[in-house]
Amino acid sequence: MRPRFAALLLAMTISVARPALAAPAADTDLAEARALSQELVQKLGAALKAQLAAGGPESAVGVCRDLAPAIAGELSRRSGARVARVSLKMRNPLLGTPDAWEQAALADFDAAVAGGQPADKLERAEVVDEPAGRTLRYVKAIPAAPLCMSCHGGADAIPAPVAAKIAAEYPHDRAVGYAPGQVRGAVTIRKRLD
Ligand code: HEC
Repeated sequence: MRPRFAALLLAMTISVARPALAAPAADTDLAEARALSQELVQKLGAALKAQLAAGGPESAVGVCRDLAPAIAGELSRRSGARVARVSLKMRNPLLGTPDAWEQAALADFDAAVAGGQPADKLERAEVVDEPAGRTLRYVKAIPAAPLCMSCHGGADAIPAPVAAKIAAEYPHDRAVGYAPGQVRGAVTIRKRLD
């Protein structure tokens, strides 16, 4: 009896310490999340690149401001998932503030990059039980690239008129001081599964 009782106690302890709420994502859900996240990053990157070349960084501030939520909104409507961008140091706290699950993933991404892993491979997927039902959570790191430095780099990388425009539009901006290769933020996807 004793060993069995001990085993039962152990099992109870484990289930208390680690509530069985999270499960791995199904391959098809993961593939969809990856495709959505890639589409957001690619469309935004292409638009940003084009506007930076055509009108310089000051003119491109609006691309990040208007186009990012527009593309994310379109992808959300098409897929039935919620697609957005979040960051630990956000520029727009209204749209970019991570919840606890996203914060933990972003902190782990930062630690992985500090440990030498490339930012562009970092992702996390999990199925979690929420009050509304089983939900897929997915985040994919968005690396800071040289292209991003004129608006997210150090003080010497951001032209004065761009800094002024950002300060005027985003008085609570924290999204500066990045170097290429760091994690600027993440695409986050949340989808109800049933
Ligand atoms: C021309 C200026 C500019 C450039 C270049 C730029 N961004 Fe941004 N970025 C912004 C602005 C403005 C916002 C705030 C958007 C909003 O209001 O939602 C932003 C927001 C973000 C966010 C959302 C989280 C947050 O901080 O609010 C991410 C992620 C992001 N940018 C990543 C990038 C990456 C990666 C690059 C390079 C590929 C890049 N940005 C290049 C101006 C820029």
